[in-house]
Amino acid sequence: MQQTKKENIQWQINEKKKPYSSKVLHDFTNSEIKRVYQFQKTHPLYNETPLVRLSNLAAELGVEEIFVKNEACRFGLNAFKVLGGIYAVGKFLAERIGRDIESLSFEELKSPKIRELTGELTFISATDGNHGRGVAWAARELGHKSVIYMPKGSSTRRLEAIKAEGAHAEITHYNYDDAVRLASSHAKVNGWIVIQDTSWEGYEDIPLWIMQGYATISKEIVEQMEVISEEPPTHVFLQAGVGSFASSVAAFLIQHYRERYPKIIVVEPHQANCFYLSFKNKGESFQTVSGDMDTIMAGLACGEPNPRAWDILSHFSEASFSCDDSISALGMRILGNPIGKDQRIISGESGSVTTGLIYCLTKNKALFEVKEKLKINEKSRILLINTEGDTDEAHYRKTVWEGTYPLTNI
Ligand SMILES: Cc1ncc(COP(=O)(O)O)c(C=O)c1O
Repeated sequence: MQQTKKENIQWQINEKKKPYSSKVLHDFTNSEIKRVYQFQKTHPLYNETPLVRLSNLAAELGVEEIFVKNEACRFGLNAFKVLGGIYAVGKFLAERIGRDIESLSFEELKSPKIRELTGELTFISATDGNHGRGVAWAARELGHKSVIYMPKGSSTRRLEAIKAEGAHAEITHYNYDDAVRLASSHAKVNGWIVIQDTSWEGYEDIPLWIMQGYATISKEIVEQMEVISEEPPTHVFLQAGVGSFASSVAAFLIQHYRERYPKIIVVEPHQANCFYLSFKNKGESFQTVSGDMDTIMAGLACGEPNPRAWDILSHFSEASFSCDDSISALGMRILGNPIGKDQRIISGESGSVTTGLIYCLTKNKALFEVKEKLKINEKSRILLINTEGDTDEAHYRKTVWEGTYPLTNI
């Protein structure tokens, strides 16, 4: 392959990793997540997403297996994020009316009887697109309102998709982290409910419910794995924005496989590589990134880790990678153009970066040192999660057809 330059991919082994302990995993146990899943499943459109086995790609890259969990098929919304929104909104309403979420179904929450108890509510969130669409979708389905703020530079295609769910949505002049602060202050003034995928002091329950909502992806994975393969994965590559997705998916896998849990590898864009910088930093606390964070991986353009995600990922991750946009574009092209009978996967910018990375790790001599350190070899069983499809179709086509963001053009 065309050798990637050092600047394309940077890596850091996590020296803060600690021995296995169930301490930070208690919110993600099989029994906790089963409860979340029971509620999500009450939605008539709930369907498990496919776990795709790319045997030819695995052979080409010299590993035993590559599995891709394809979240582009989730609820017809082209991304996984709705799993968090639906559970957080449902759980919030359940608490409001003093009921246990286990005793409620999605249909019942829509009923006039419940609506009378809650009144019409407004949910507010800040988002690159996917999370906001999930919140707007859940609010509309349950007969409530939503307000969604998007960071500067967000895709107008993604804005339209959120508006189509009935939300008041706008692209602000702020980056993601400041848009979150804006949403929170507007909520205070107007009595709206913040449904945010990251936590801060005094705002911890709803972000946790969102994370628990994501963890059902892992519940599905372990069940699907048992059917198609006897062995658990050896490595899982997880893309991170604030880290809620990566940490909750990892937490469930870790508590399930216990000492045999796969190596957890966090992947971010250069422009928002807060986990990478935090692993690089000697201290125990996390680092943040500010500024515009201009990357095609819009879903990952978050500069401040969710503290709870940090607790999990700093404890259990093996390493962190920081990638430029060419690695994400490469992943889009690989998944969209499979070898032989491997299934085609349409993967958007934030979904594809882990595929681009594993390709480079196995093909690029400059990365052999880290490949060795991570023990990526012919016995590796790699798990990737395609977190979004072509949520911005025009950009997807431009990238794949015109070959924008080529590896050499950096
Ligand atoms: C498609 C996609 N993948 C991954 C992520 C990362 O999730 P988190 O911010 O929880 O780390 C996001 C976040 O918006 C996303 O939209």
